[in-house]
Amino acid sequence: MIGGKGWIAVPGIRENADRTLEEQLIGLEFAIAEAAGKTVLDLGCAEGVIGREFARAGATRVLGIESLPGHLEVARLACAAETQMEFAQAYLQDWIPAHPDPEVFDLVLALGIIHKVYDPGEALRFACRSCRDLLLFRAPAHAWEGWVQAKHRAPGAPARLRIHVPTTMEKEGFALERKIAGARGEAVEYWRRRCGWRSTSSRSPSASSSAGRSSRSRRCTSNVRLRFFSDFLAIVDRRDWEAAVAGDEGAARRVARALDGVDLYFHGGPHIDGDVIGVTLADLICHGIIPRVTLHADE
Ligand SMILES: C[S@@+](CC[C@H](N)C(=O)[O-])C[C@H]1O[C@@H](n2cnc3c(N)ncnc32)[C@H](O)[C@@H]1O
Repeated sequence: MIGGKGWIAVPGIRENADRTLEEQLIGLEFAIAEAAGKTVLDLGCAEGVIGREFARAGATRVLGIESLPGHLEVARLACAAETQMEFAQAYLQDWIPAHPDPEVFDLVLALGIIHKVYDPGEALRFACRSCRDLLLFRAPAHAWEGWVQAKHRAPGAPARLRIHVPTTMEKEGFALERKIAGARGEAVEYWRRRCGWRSTSSRSPSASSSAGRSSRSRRCTSNVRLRFFSDFLAIVDRRDWEAAVAGDEGAARRVARALDGVDLYFHGGPHIDGDVIGVTLADLICHGIIPRVTLHADE
């Protein structure tokens, strides 16, 4: 038996802990049911036993990131039979800047973690960038109306930072699918990535002002209005585009590089001049090949 106090009790390994696995699994059942064949990132994984449920349900890879070596000692014992599980000991505030272009996972678990870092917004946006499809978010019980405040203030900062989770998630291209009440006043939210189409923004480059635009848009280096296929080919090499759509991953990476940080404005919807460019672009985004491009309806 490992000594000290844990977060989730693991029978036979470390039983002295704050929570039970049963209570921490409340609300996760729909995600576990779709885990087969998926990859999972578990941020602040504690003893790894939540991720283990996803592995047992057929996830092909589960990466848990956790700051406390003691929790990971328990995790490695508890999850020894799940060979598709891997753990990294790191503080998220160190991990995030070290991974500016992070691995993308089908499912991301951001359960009871983002308020643990000084900048919850940075942690949540990192979770979004790492997520291809479904992001599970568990807010602490004291979160209200979607607001989450950091537990601690950064040294020298005037106040603890706080974040409005629905606003960030929507800006990052996710829609709330369901919300399930969990243990001790907490709730689990299911945020599903919209397939590349941002209905929230309808400003054209000429009409937009920096005040009304998303933080992602503000980071962007250029705006491109698409009226004709040739507008798109001015940014992306045609052969790369055709190969990417046909499934060539190297070409898709080159397309992604060409589009990185670009805001694309589709005139009148995702079709251009009869081409299905918007649809195929959305497919690439859905599959995580182009995670950063932002699409706007140019109305
Ligand atoms: C509230 S527990 C939640 C654990 C689990 N995700 C759950 O939902 O039951 C937060 C976990 O994140 C870890 N943690 C706290 N701050 C962290 C940080 N800055 N970076 C990485 N892990 C952190 C803690 O050690 C703890 O295991």
